Formats: sequence, C-alpha cells, structure tokens
Amino acid sequence: MALLNLRGVSRSFALSGGAPATVALQATDLQVNEHEFLTILGPSGCGKSTLLRIVAGLERHDAGEVILDGRPIAGPGSDRGMVFQSYTLFPWLTVRDNVCFGLRERRIPRPQQLEIAQEYLAQVGLSGFEHHYPRQLSGGMQQRVAIARALANGPRILLMDEPFGALDHQTRELMQELLLDVWQANRKTVLFVTHDIDEAIFMGTRVAVMTARPGRIKLDQSIELGYPRHYSIKTSPPFAAIKSELMEQVRIEARAAQAATVQLAAIDSSGAKV
Ligand SMILES: Nc1ncnc2c1ncn2[C@@H]1O[C@H](COP(=O)(O)OP(=O)(O)OP(=O)(O)O)[C@@H](O)[C@H]1O
Ligand SMILES: [Mg+2]
Repeated sequence: MALLNLRGVSRSFALSGGAPATVALQATDLQVNEHEFLTILGPSGCGKSTLLRIVAGLERHDAGEVILDGRPIAGPGSDRGMVFQSYTLFPWLTVRDNVCFGLRERRIPRPQQLEIAQEYLAQVGLSGFEHHYPRQLSGGMQQRVAIARALANGPRILLMDEPFGALDHQTRELMQELLLDVWQANRKTVLFVTHDIDEAIFMGTRVAVMTARPGRIKLDQSIELGYPRHYSIKTSPPFAAIKSELMEQVRIEARAAQAATVQLAAIDSSGAKV
C-alpha cells in the first residue's frame, strides 16, 4: 500500500460578497510510495500549496480522503516535516535550538536532542554553525537548517513547497544535490513542489504535472535516470527528451491558467461581481 494516498480530494475557498467560491482542488488522486521523491509541477494558482497544506494537516479538505501510513490525516503531526519557500526559522533561536524545536516540544531529553541536532546539521553541512542565529546565515544556509529541523523530528514524509524558490541559481543547484544526498542517506519519502522543470526532473523519482485550477494530477511520470544524479545529467539527451515532453504539458496548463485570469479580469471590469 502507498505511504500517502489521496483519493478524490477537493478544496474550495469561499469568497465574501456571495461571489462563487474558488475551487482550488477538484477530485485529486495521488499515491506516493515509501522512499519515493515525487516532484509536482503546475501553473501558479493551480492548488499545489493547498495540496501540500492539506497533507500537512494545516488546511482541511471538503471531500475525499487523505491517508498517511494507513491513517486519515487529522491535523498537523511530527510524522510530516514541512519546508517552505520563505525562511521560517525562529529568529530568536540559535541554529541548534531551531533544529531542536520539535524535539523539545515532544519532551525528548536534552542530551538526545543535541545528538540528533548534531547529526542532521552535519548532514546539511552546517557543523560549526550551531550557535549562529538565522540572521547571521545566507538564504541557502537557512534553508539547510530548515531541512535539518524537518528531518530531526523523524517524519515519515517531507513536504517541501518551493523550498529553493528564493535562492540564486548556483545556490539552488547546490541545494538540489545536497537534498538528494540527504534523501539517499535517510531514505525518506519526499513530496516536493517546484516551478522549475529542470529541478523537478533532476530530483524526482517521479514527476506529476497538475492542471490549471481547479487542480488535479494530469500526468504522472517515472523518471528513469538512476541515482546518484550528477548535475551534468541536466545537459544529457535523455534529460532533454523528458524535459521537452513535460514543458509542453506544463505550458498547456499555464496558458489555460492565464486565459482563466484574463476572463476573470474582464468580468471584474464589466462591473460584475467576481
Ligand atoms: N486561504 C485562502 N483563501 C482563499 N483562496 C485561497 C486560499 N488559499 C488558496 N486560495 C486560492 O486557491 C487557489 C490555489 O492556491 P495555491 O496557493 O494552492 O496555488 P499554488 O499552485 O501553490 O500557486 P503558486 O504556484 O503561485 O504558489 C488560488 O486561486 C488561491 O487564490
Ligand atoms: Mg504555492
């Protein structure tokens, strides 16, 4: 059985003033197996973050079921680790205490907390930065702390919402390799949202493409490129072949999303309620 199973998951957001609700997700199905690294691509506003937030238990769903490890999701839990695009470290805590945060909440004894923090900080290459504060770190380093913090809680699945979206190109590529190393070392299951097709192919064991809103999975493809993946694979012919197919699919949905926005703007400027 899949580790994560979404069946017929829908979510709408009611708008004020009697306007029609925004249907973010409609009858979305998705299965993620243990140890998979599933990347999700889709146009802006198609419901990627909503999907991740539902799995994280931060957002409710209106219909369907979300089963993790055989149990329906009912709120946030330490079995899921989140990493967002924006830097979400606690600025008043040191790097070490950021990583220990969830462990402290769960009343893990302090010596064990420190041992776990040390292990994951080493994995993300931040040994020696334990006593720094987030403001003393670059964006890439902050995201490495966020990854260590998420892993420290021993989650069954890592949920990552454009975690490298705010980083410069070079840092982003290094982070991709680092995350793949960490993934291979820990054999975690990862659900990773990105706008970047290269990133999706480079990292994923599978790539899923979502439709324009209301979002559902339109295409779900295994990436047969093997691991470990060296960055040079991005310029290889098999990579280019996968990319050209996915680009086409993503562009179709991006155009559909754009057309829908133009339509909404037209209704708005004609004075009708949107
Ligand atoms: N709390 C909310 N209230 C109202 N509408 C919302 C809310 N959260 C999301 N939406 C709407 O649901 C749709 C999907 O949003 P979501 O953030 O999941 O998209 P996304 O695919 O993550 O987009 P992006 O790629 O830009 O991050 C959008 O139309 C958005 O405006
Ligand atoms: Mg989003």
